Amino acid sequence: MWYSLQWAEFKAILEEDCILMNIAVIGTGYVGLITAAGLAEIGHRVIGVDDDARKIELLNRGGMPFYEPILGDLVKRNQQAKRLEFNSQIEDAVAKCQVIFICVGTPPLESGEADLSSVELVARRISEHARGYRLVIEKSTVPVQTGRRLQKHFCIYRSNSQFQCDVASNPEFLREGSGVEDFFHPDRIVVGVDSERAAGLLEEIYRPVLEQSFACPVHENCHNSPRVPFVVTDINSAELIKHASNSFLAMKISFINMIADLCEAVGADAGKVAEAVGMDKRIGGSFLRPGVGFGGSCFPKDLQAFVRVGQNAGCDFTLLREVERINQSRIDLFVKKVKEELWVVRGKRIGVWGLAFKPRTDDVRSSPSLAVIRRLLAEGALVRAHDPQAMEKAKAELPEIEYCADAYAAAEGAEAVLVLTEWEEFLRLDWAKVRQIMARPLILDGRNMFSRATMAGHGFEYVDIGSGSPARERLPDPKTV
Ligand code: UDX
Repeated sequence: MWYSLQWAEFKAILEEDCILMNIAVIGTGYVGLITAAGLAEIGHRVIGVDDDARKIELLNRGGMPFYEPILGDLVKRNQQAKRLEFNSQIEDAVAKCQVIFICVGTPPLESGEADLSSVELVARRISEHARGYRLVIEKSTVPVQTGRRLQKHFCIYRSNSQFQCDVASNPEFLREGSGVEDFFHPDRIVVGVDSERAAGLLEEIYRPVLEQSFACPVHENCHNSPRVPFVVTDINSAELIKHASNSFLAMKISFINMIADLCEAVGADAGKVAEAVGMDKRIGGSFLRPGVGFGGSCFPKDLQAFVRVGQNAGCDFTLLREVERINQSRIDLFVKKVKEELWVVRGKRIGVWGLAFKPRTDDVRSSPSLAVIRRLLAEGALVRAHDPQAMEKAKAELPEIEYCADAYAAAEGAEAVLVLTEWEEFLRLDWAKVRQIMARPLILDGRNMFSRATMAGHGFEYVDIGSGSPARERLPDPKTV
């Protein structure tokens, strides 16, 4: 019954041999489910907990609550190996597991600040049901000083003298659509701790990932991967690293979208500008793609929360407010492009390719695609949409549009097709067929996924983000119409 041991006794066992641990992961959303399956895959015994009993029932039936490449197989394999189970009773998991990851949602409040009520509820359950030593790890994205709050909570509400714990921060950097890859091959693992023992335990937990010494479920052969940096710092700094990372990535996107606005105004090519700017090794080419802006459950939420953290600390975070503003203005600018090309939108049939906030996911949270569609519906457009994965989730948000089984059906009879999520499938379409079924061969590409020359070659009017010349200069030759 080692899970009710005091730290000293537990440490003795640890030193004898590396014991793989009983770990509770509270919250089975994108972060929690990937973390639970990843920890089980490297050998730990994991209990995934969620207060949504239907989600737990679905997982125990072998179903998946969302689409994420590779994750379904990873969960199933570890369930069959009895290293991973799911339970809606947090008390049971907290009583059994020495290590507890908090992966619950921290959605924005009206004020924009993060709602930490789910985090606090988990802390209460731990205080009520844990006996002996516990390592409580916050992996949810939380404002700086949340760890301090947790420590204070455990001091106030410790319901029994048996209970002692360390609190740690272990922020996640998982990109939806590549989350399993990011778990097994992270750029770094960051932990914020107040004690050597917490640092030691976390190093034990992640040892196979740090050493890259596991049989990789993502790649055929990725031996000799370099050791992953293990960044150990204080709790506040670890919490800040997450918000700072996401805010910087969001800033890169808004920066290149600001440049794209200038390129359109003066007649320059934002794609070329971004490509050449990104060749500077100090800048790097990623997150410099102009488009209809960033969405998802992280960037918009984390930016809002971080701006309030700065404000509450008396710091001037105007820079990040501008990042938010530039991003929000993408929707207006794109709808303006559509209206410029269509003239009258009312009654016009418009096809939309892509509903998810990015490819390789079914997540439509804060998706720019849904925001653009809502604006066009308000203008009286008739919208038909296709997305390889996200239509079910989109239907719950936008029941009033037509959902099509493929991109061709969405383009049928359309006066324009809007590309709003850069799914790879769209690169392999039969353009002669698309042109033939559309009422007007007009493509407005909100993700700059096609080349202007190729689309003109196929006889399309093509509008992208950040190129100086308007579509009409690229009207197809009247002789070929
Ligand atoms: C992000 C962070 O990348 C990840 O580290 C963190 O843990 C969670 O939040 P995610 O939100 O899944 O991951 O998506 P990401 O791939 O980062 O893209 C976010 C948004 O930015 C998407 O809407 C994408 O379309 C947009 N984007 C991305 C651009 O508009 N331009 C780019 O160049 C890159």
